[in-house]
Amino acid sequence: MLNDTLLINKKSWDEVAPRFYGRTALPEYGPFAPNENELNLFGDVSGKKVLEIGCGSGHSLKYMEEHKAAELWGVDLSSSQIAAATELLKDINVKLFDSPMEMNPGLPHAYFDVVYSIFALGWTTNLDLTLRNIHKYLKPGGTFIFSWEHPIFSRVQNTEHGLSFNKSYQEEGSYEHQAWDHPAIMQQYKVSTYINSLINTGFKIVKMVEDVRVSEELKARDENRWYNWTKVQSVPTTIIFKCEKL
Ligand SMILES: C[S@@+](CC[C@H](N)C(=O)[O-])C[C@H]1O[C@@H](n2cnc3c(N)ncnc32)[C@H](O)[C@@H]1O
Repeated sequence: MLNDTLLINKKSWDEVAPRFYGRTALPEYGPFAPNENELNLFGDVSGKKVLEIGCGSGHSLKYMEEHKAAELWGVDLSSSQIAAATELLKDINVKLFDSPMEMNPGLPHAYFDVVYSIFALGWTTNLDLTLRNIHKYLKPGGTFIFSWEHPIFSRVQNTEHGLSFNKSYQEEGSYEHQAWDHPAIMQQYKVSTYINSLINTGFKIVKMVEDVRVSEELKARDENRWYNWTKVQSVPTTIIFKCEKL
């Protein structure tokens, strides 16, 4: 049974899915973040069993197939996203599950070499539970990599007098997503909450990235866009964690 927040978010993602088709997928980690070609966090994935959490339209799984991963598995809350991924990957052997990351739809334990999530994990309504699930799916020594919007980014807004905090960074919990015309509930976790939750679950943090890569395209962008040059000059857009299952 999905809780109320997951039901709202599922409906919303089913509506907006076409707008996000292939939008944030490997080798990209997120807006204005260094990409995998530069970071090489995954290393050689050939022959590896990989699972994507919040696989969206399936473009990162396609990237994994092109890099010769042995098994491709994906989970996503949205039936529209799973349908898009099924179509994109129709000639590839892949296992897709229409399920929230907070639940296990039948994924094997101690099975995957790599679990990853590209700009999806922060949607979780229960961070500890989601991380515990991921920990169970991984083999000992397995790799967990995820990217998400940097927690400080949504707390800072552009005003005519410069950047200002619209809410305290300390304040965690759910809030209504403003940017869509469909209601969606997002979650705010501090960076230390991610770190402590990873540690408490049994992960070793191998690397964190919060760098920004600026392009001419970004500089030329409309200042009203969510990821705009004024803001990105001072605030990181994306945070990336690479972890190992202890
Ligand atoms: C920004 S998209 C990720 C895009 C993906 N990297 C791609 O290449 O298409 C975020 C994804 O998270 C999914 N999502 C949101 N909440 C979720 C949840 N609780 N469990 C699983 N997936 C969720 C959405 O349906 C959406 O596909």
